[in-house]
Amino acid sequence: MATVEVDVSSLMPGMSLVVQWRGKPVVVRNRTEKEIEDGKAVSLAELKDPIARNANLPVDAPAIDVNRTVPGKEAWIVMVQVCTHSGCIPVGQQGEFEGWLCPCHGSQYDTAGRIRKGPAPENMAVPVFQFIADTRIRIG
Ligand code: FES
Repeated sequence: MATVEVDVSSLMPGMSLVVQWRGKPVVVRNRTEKEIEDGKAVSLAELKDPIARNANLPVDAPAIDVNRTVPGKEAWIVMVQVCTHSGCIPVGQQGEFEGWLCPCHGSQYDTAGRIRKGPAPENMAVPVFQFIADTRIRIG
């Protein structure tokens, strides 16, 4: 299916769900205040991959926290949950950055899904998405 619509009304801060989109898992996470603050506290210089990898933005947009989501919805991470190393599925809210930890070779992503440690070369990809209502997202 080219697009998927997701009802996120049940997702309180700190909750996630995963949907399939174009054969890939896409995680939708309503981040906590702490997760947002942790994401914002990271400078570009600390990032292994300084590019946002957000299909909603120009290809060279920097990977600051706000560029990992869409305007006005900074709590929400919508991201292809596939490790950019060799394609395993990272596990959420794990690892030293409390984001995602890949069980295959130990890549660690932060609360914005940016690669911080391990062999993965890039931040996990943010697909084209938009809020079509306050609690409804269209991916693709
Ligand atoms: Fe994720 Fe290798 S596939 S670290």
